Amino acid sequence: MRISVIGCGYLGAVHAAAMAELGHDVIGVDVDPEKLAALTRGEAPFFEPGLPELLVSAGSTGRLRFTDDISEVRGAQVHFIAVGTPQVKGSNAADLRFVDAAVGQLLPHLSPGDVVVGKSTVPVGTAGAIAARLAESGTGAVLAWNPEFLREGFAVKDSLTPDRIVFGLPSEPEGAVVAGDALREVYARALADDTPLVVTDYATAELVKVSANAFLATKISFINAMAEIAEVTGADVTQLADAIGFDARIGRRFLGAGVGFGGGCLPKDIRGFMARADELGRGESVAFLKEVDAINLRRRQRVVDHVLELLDHAPFGKTVAVLGLAFKPHSDDVRDSPALDVAVRLKGLGADVRATDPQAIGNARRLHPQLDYRESFEGTVSGADVVVLVTEWDEYRYLDPDAVGTLVASRNVVDGRNSYDPARWRAAGWSYRGLGKP
Ligand code: UGA
Repeated sequence: MRISVIGCGYLGAVHAAAMAELGHDVIGVDVDPEKLAALTRGEAPFFEPGLPELLVSAGSTGRLRFTDDISEVRGAQVHFIAVGTPQVKGSNAADLRFVDAAVGQLLPHLSPGDVVVGKSTVPVGTAGAIAARLAESGTGAVLAWNPEFLREGFAVKDSLTPDRIVFGLPSEPEGAVVAGDALREVYARALADDTPLVVTDYATAELVKVSANAFLATKISFINAMAEIAEVTGADVTQLADAIGFDARIGRRFLGAGVGFGGGCLPKDIRGFMARADELGRGESVAFLKEVDAINLRRRQRVVDHVLELLDHAPFGKTVAVLGLAFKPHSDDVRDSPALDVAVRLKGLGADVRATDPQAIGNARRLHPQLDYRESFEGTVSGADVVVLVTEWDEYRYLDPDAVGTLVASRNVVDGRNSYDPARWRAAGWSYRGLGKP
């Protein structure tokens, strides 16, 4: 099929390459010339394992091209909208400017029978409004909503072999057939492999996405709330998570207590959900998400408090080594990153913060040039008064406490991801602080 993908960020670039890999003829459209140049060279403009290989392999087939010229989408039958929906500054709501602009730019180039497919995460009701806009335009194109569930770090796998596919189709039967048939062809390979498919309406498709992220955020904040209780009772949240996780109804995944969730999705999606529910007069239905958000943000301060306690509340001029800047390992994304937030807060308190990350230093520096970034692990921890693990990259997870102990000034460690064995670190002479750990 001939496919266009509007927006080549973390979502769109991977989606475009995956579609080409699956045999489709793909044109990716973006406004950022640097990004386009990198993608055209077969280079990923951000860190995503497997994406460079995918770009090269899909690019070599001649089926994957990138452009800033929207008119090149002409001739494609399916047009994916994969632009960002960031949080509006000073509000919880999602900013739909880029989605609206993408639709506006597409309109003059659509033909009857074309299918516009929304992938961006949007407030429920957005698809209905876009469908009305398409209908008014008289182009004869129809709209489908097809939310994306890829995780950064695993985006290639999640795109090529998704764990489920959702089609939100028009209520009008003819349009539903056109959109449904086109999407079945797009995802023919995954569907042949028995990937579960849910065919539904726009509102459900939009809600599936935000409710999935709300659920995941709630699960993480639930275990972090238990960590807070563990901290005042002497209980161990990791053992607690193991024990409740054996219940198949609960499950152990996403019960990792620590500094909490961040990234370009979970935080802004729960806030956008609250804002939309308020507009719909159902704010109370998701009012618990306010607590989910608050618990999550409290955990960042908890990490900072641990550091302060280890420094006898005199951080000024003390060296703090921050391990990790990305919001999670296998990503260079620092959007709403708990790790970067912790580093900035400690710097604000007067500590000499040195921060490192295998991939995210460039992005972190652009946002917070005031921090002292170090490329090497040794350069970060040498002479440190406290070491803080905030992003559990393998490079930092499997440290030898004896070896690291020879580099630091004082053996103090705050384990913001509960990744270390406290007994082992204490045996090596470290003062160890975890989250929700005795
Ligand atoms: C999330 C969802 O997992 C994807 O399904 C969804 O498609 C995506 O958002 C999106 O909306 O595009 P992602 O933001 O890539 O994916 O990252 P996650 O793996 O969900 O991690 C989110 C945050 O939760 C990270 O900061 C991570 O460190 C934290 N986390 C995760 C915990 O603190 N504890 C856990 O047990 C798991």
